[in-house]
Formats: sequence, C-alpha cells, structure tokens
Amino acid sequence: MNSQTAYFPPFTVDFDLQAGIMLNPDRSKSTRASTMIPYYRDRAAIEALAADGDPVHYEVFEKNIPTEEGHIMICISKLLPGKIGDEFFMTKGHYHQRIATAETYLCLSGEGFMLMKTPEGECRAESFRPGRMVYVPPYWAHRSINTGKTPLITFCNYPAHAALNYGDILTEGFPKLIVDSAQGPALVERGS
Ligand code: NI
Repeated sequence: MNSQTAYFPPFTVDFDLQAGIMLNPDRSKSTRASTMIPYYRDRAAIEALAADGDPVHYEVFEKNIPTEEGHIMICISKLLPGKIGDEFFMTKGHYHQRIATAETYLCLSGEGFMLMKTPEGECRAESFRPGRMVYVPPYWAHRSINTGKTPLITFCNYPAHAALNYGDILTEGFPKLIVDSAQGPALVERGS
C-alpha cells in the first residue's frame, strides 16, 4: 500500500436496479425547490413552487467512502419530473474542485440529458435512457435534466477526492438550456 491511502476493508452495496434504489445507503441529501431559485430562468415559477410546500427536487444517496485519492465515490441520483416554466427539472450542476477528474453516470430509469460545459464555454448535451452511460470527462461541469414523466435515476462513480464545486457554475451558468417545445425537449441558447 502507498502511504497516502489508508487501510480500508471491503464491503458490498445492494441495489434494486428495477427501482433504481440503493438499498443500504449511509446517507442521503435532498435538494428542495427553494435551493433551486437562482438556477431557473422563470424565477417567479420556481419561487411559487418553493412557496407551495417546497417539495424535494432531487435526492442523492451515497456510501461513506473516504474522500481520499484512490477511492471511488458511488451514488444514486434521483431527479424528480416536472417543469419550471418551459425548463425541465434539473440539478444545480457542478465542476469538481479537483477539476481534472471524470465521472460516469449510468441511467437506470427515466429519460433526460446530461448538460456539460467546459470553463472555456463549450457546451454539450448527451441523452440519458435506461442502460445508457454518460461519460463526463475531466474539466466538464455537469448537470442532469429530467425530460420524462418519471424520476430520472442514475448511478454515478467519480474519484472520491474530486470534491464538488458548485460556486463557479452558479456564477457562470450554463450557456444552454433544455426546454419543452412543440417538437419535444430542445437544446436552446440561454438568452433565447
Ligand atoms: Ni460530479
């Protein structure tokens, strides 16, 4: 063993892949509508939802894994369906603090997109469907968007020392949005 990564015993995690549930998570974090107020274009609509019971927007379930280089964080993300104005429900999005770290998201249930951007401003969207994995390369900020009628459930893995950076993407915003249109979900410029 190298000197930087401490001894850690093996363990197992059980999933219900049909339901998209981690059966024995050590912790979960819920993000409610009120937290999402700065993120949507239609501020009145998200404020109205926050004032109307402030429902859960998304939940993340994790295991207690040391946040040290060498470990892999494992999580389930459950993003509920809905719209704020014409924008579909989404997560805040983040860069990794150690920005040169990648992440994989395997879609277990639901449909939607992973919206990604680089610090230089390149923006891409890749679609989620059950059984499809999105590879988020190093340097790309990422946000999940649920364009379906059921929860979008993804299984994520990333280097455990990556740490999440929400501040920079909150300041920058994503240059594109996924909105509902007559032709279905559409990727549009934020200013449009
Ligand atoms: Ni991430």
